[in-house]
Amino acid sequence: MIRIAAAGDVHFDKHSQNRLSNHFKDIETKADCFLLAGDLTQTGHPDEMRALAHDLKKCPVPVIAVLGNHDYHLGQVKEVIKILEDADVIVLENSSVTLNINDQTVGISGAKGFGGGFVGACGSDFGEPEMKAFMRHSKDSAGIFEEQLRGLDTTYKIGLLHYSPTTQTLMGEKKEIYPFLGSYYLAEALDHGGADIAFHGHAHKGIEKGQTLGGTPVRNVAQPVIRHAFNIYTLDKDSLS
Ligand SMILES: [Fe+2]
Ligand SMILES: [Fe+2]
Repeated sequence: MIRIAAAGDVHFDKHSQNRLSNHFKDIETKADCFLLAGDLTQTGHPDEMRALAHDLKKCPVPVIAVLGNHDYHLGQVKEVIKILEDADVIVLENSSVTLNINDQTVGISGAKGFGGGFVGACGSDFGEPEMKAFMRHSKDSAGIFEEQLRGLDTTYKIGLLHYSPTTQTLMGEKKEIYPFLGSYYLAEALDHGGADIAFHGHAHKGIEKGQTLGGTPVRNVAQPVIRHAFNIYTLDKDSLS
């Protein structure tokens, strides 16, 4: 059995130190790893990420993170990733990591993902160059995410995203903005890549539980949704909870 702590959209500012680490007491008795589903900061400022890194350094279980759109805002992605990595956080962007937990292998493929929309209400790779670039970025990044999942030869495969792969966890958000909240390409990647479960954030007004068309469980772990510092999920090959 694998126990996963997960949260997204912690949106640290430079004064947020200890907001997360205050909840790390005994976390190792409840979880084997801690997944962060992007929007780690307000604007992607290095000082904001340093405040978060200060907290994550105190986490006694492995921390695996993807970035969100907010973390890209100031264009200092390389610097904020380095700040996280210096705090021993594993940062994934169209890449994977394998953990050994309780004598089992757990593969985590991570990607920010992107928007584009969902079946019946999505953009298309047609028309102006800007529209084509938008949709191609969505499709290409989902394609790499799928390759990463396929490449995992592990007991469990987890997809870690910022953008949503399904509308099911967006309920409560305005339908007009669904195309900016996620993409069905990500759901196809999860289903074809054999993921056991996926976590995402970004949709602050959404709901926690959903699944892809192919039946992959999806959990929106944005803090405003789960209303806790993090939630704990148990992965068991026979029953996912
Ligand atoms: Fe957010
Ligand atoms: Fe976001």
